[in-house]
Amino acid sequence: MNSLLLLVALILSSSFQDTHRKLKVSIYYEALCDDSKKFLLDQFYPAYSRIGSNLLVDLVPYGKATHELINGEWEFQCQHGLSECVGNRYQACGLALNKCQDKQIEYINCLMGSVNASSQNTLEKCASKLDVPAVDIMKCSQSRRGDQLLAKYGDQTHKVQPMITFVPTIIFNDSFDSDIQESSLKNFLETACDVLQNKPDGCQKKNFLNTPDETEIDDFLGSVKNDDKGELDHVSEDKERRSN
Ligand SMILES: *[C@@H]1O[C@H](CO)[C@@H](O)[C@H](O)[C@H]1NC(C)=O
Ligand SMILES: *[C@@H]1O[C@H](CO)[C@@H](O)[C@H](O)[C@H]1NC(C)=O
Repeated sequence: MNSLLLLVALILSSSFQDTHRKLKVSIYYEALCDDSKKFLLDQFYPAYSRIGSNLLVDLVPYGKATHELINGEWEFQCQHGLSECVGNRYQACGLALNKCQDKQIEYINCLMGSVNASSQNTLEKCASKLDVPAVDIMKCSQSRRGDQLLAKYGDQTHKVQPMITFVPTIIFNDSFDSDIQESSLKNFLETACDVLQNKPDGCQKKNFLNTPDETEIDDFLGSVKNDDKGELDHVSEDKERRSN
């Protein structure tokens, strides 16, 4: 019995130390914002798969919205319109319904990587990543609780100093730093590894090389432009096929 208690004490104290050794990363973003998508999908998610256990992630789905209590009801305006508020609510509610960080990241990555992060189909597809029934997330997002969660994220967003002007805004250990912000957008893994005191294996230099540098991005953009045309061709093919 005593040894069991000792074991419990050891586990508790080691997880306590872990929380203190972790780098807290807050991400202020919004559901329908291209820059948020790009950061979460191309920078954050791949880095998380390497050093996630060293990060304490604080996702804040609100961005450049506003909220106001009118006659006891929360009213929101979102930067990309009403459906963005729906998307932000799906995220706020999902994050509240399962606190497991790894599952949260899978869920958010699934939503942000979908064509429409505000659609019910997307929610149904992504809820399984969180192990929460989509209907529970939906209910929350249409209820007072959804409003309150979103308003709470709004208050947190509005407290940031200096005021957030760019979405996504990335903050380490609760204090905004414009160098961290800029370099996180370019290479999040390298930026996080830079400030982590005990470098995990995921911080090996060779991992940074996977991130495209400036010239590769230009090449990529060039190829996207060409691909765009390709995609349009596919669309018209699809239309033809459908009308046949
Ligand atoms: C995304 O889904 C929402 C909810 O169904 C809808 O209101 C919105 O128009 C959709 N957006 C696009 C770009 O299709
Ligand atoms: C944030 O805290 C972590 C853990 O204490 C530490 O390793 C890191 O250096 C800190 N980073 C910054 C930018 O303060």
